[in-house]
Amino acid sequence: MRLNKFLSTCGVASRRKCDEIILSGRVCVGGKVCNVLGTEINEKKDVVTLDGVRVKIPEQFVYLKLNKPKGYVCSAKDEKGRKTIFQLVNSTTRLVNVGRLDYNTEGLIFLTNDGNFANLVTHPRFHFEKEYHVTVEGEMKESELAVLRAGVVENGVRMPKAKVMPISFDGKLSKLSVIIEEGQNHQVRRMFAAIGKDIVLLKRVRIGEVRLGGLSRGKTKPLTQQEIAYFLEGK
Ligand code: URA
Repeated sequence: MRLNKFLSTCGVASRRKCDEIILSGRVCVGGKVCNVLGTEINEKKDVVTLDGVRVKIPEQFVYLKLNKPKGYVCSAKDEKGRKTIFQLVNSTTRLVNVGRLDYNTEGLIFLTNDGNFANLVTHPRFHFEKEYHVTVEGEMKESELAVLRAGVVENGVRMPKAKVMPISFDGKLSKLSVIIEEGQNHQVRRMFAAIGKDIVLLKRVRIGEVRLGGLSRGKTKPLTQQEIAYFLEGK
């Protein structure tokens, strides 16, 4: 098995991030630093360490969904000392977040120790939809919805198309459903910024067929076998 695939299966990070980790010289195979991309290892025999700590393919995989509250970062550590989503999770197993939500975004995010699962869910090739509920001030005009649907132009570059449906307007705030497939950095906030709208609340409610449902803020719940199979075996 390739070293980057091995590290990713161990839940270290995505395959691409594992390549960066390998290049940085933090990985040893059989006691020797291995910083060569594409290295093949024997996953049953070779001893692989990251920063001196042995990494192994987990005997049991864990798949959780979390309702991330606002005010948490999606990383194991934060240089500014902010709260991390891992402080909300009671797990003896080392987990990674599958994709990210911004500090001020709330809603559905998966956590797992199965790097293969993390790769499948986040890789643009697999086109898993992500649905967000977006709250903005004022009423949205049809022309603004049309721009979001066609793909806003940001610095001369057209962003991907989105499915956008108004949900409600209470005289002050509009709530919309926004569905995207790609996961560019701050994509939804950038789409609305491009039409001059600040987002009051951004919440992810669905990834592929898996919904946030009634999961309370800050709580986790294991994915069902059916939900796991949906991602691992294809839609
Ligand atoms: N788009 C954003 O702008 N932020 C998120 O957290 C997720 C999608």
